[in-house]
Amino acid sequence: MTRDGPADADPAAAGLVPAGLGHAEALAAIHAAAFPPDAAWGPQVMALQLGLPGGFGWIDPRGGMILARVAADEAEILTLAVAADARRCGLGRTLLATAMHTAEGRGARMMFLEVASRNAPARMLYERAGFTEVGRRRRYYPGGDDALVLRADLISRDTP
Ligand SMILES: CC(C)(COP(=O)(O)OP(=O)(O)OC[C@H]1O[C@@H](n2cnc3c(N)ncnc32)[C@H](O)[C@@H]1OP(=O)(O)O)[C@@H](O)C(=O)NCCC(=O)NCCS
Repeated sequence: MTRDGPADADPAAAGLVPAGLGHAEALAAIHAAAFPPDAAWGPQVMALQLGLPGGFGWIDPRGGMILARVAADEAEILTLAVAADARRCGLGRTLLATAMHTAEGRGARMMFLEVASRNAPARMLYERAGFTEVGRRRRYYPGGDDALVLRADLISRDTP
């Protein structure tokens, strides 16, 4: 399977910075510029998520961030956000591809995430990155939207 985006790209060359606990404020600021106030994560939540076993993240200083974690051979996207005024420039695709590559490098063979069924932009991004629906949590989000559980295999898409 071929994947959309530069999964093997050098994150530094793409302008990405590895997120550390000292970036909690910056991560929260980007999140607040991407999500409605009731869904935005503050600095403490960012630090908590980054501090989870296997947690890692990437920041695009132009206005993007992603947090993920690896546990054994499974990885999970915890959150992905691109500020509203920085969208449709490829930031989301590059952040996702980089997180997938990082997780693969840390031993994950598959990656999971949850996305609201009505979140068409994110669903398109994930579909093009190789994610497929493997589950649905009905009325999971406030407002009643379903959560779709998506999965992508991380291992050797192009190897016979
Ligand atoms: C989803 C999100 C991260 C996409 O970030 P982005 O930087 O705009 O995405 P990209 O520019 O890298 O787009 C990559 C591909 O995703 C799809 N896509 C992104 N935004 C889209 C939109 N509004 N409508 C349709 N497809 C879209 C397209 O296939 C796009 O490729 P193309 O531009 O060549 O058509 C961003 O819209 C966002 O932060 N939304 C709010 C927070 C959120 O929903 N996060 C995900 C929660 S699971």
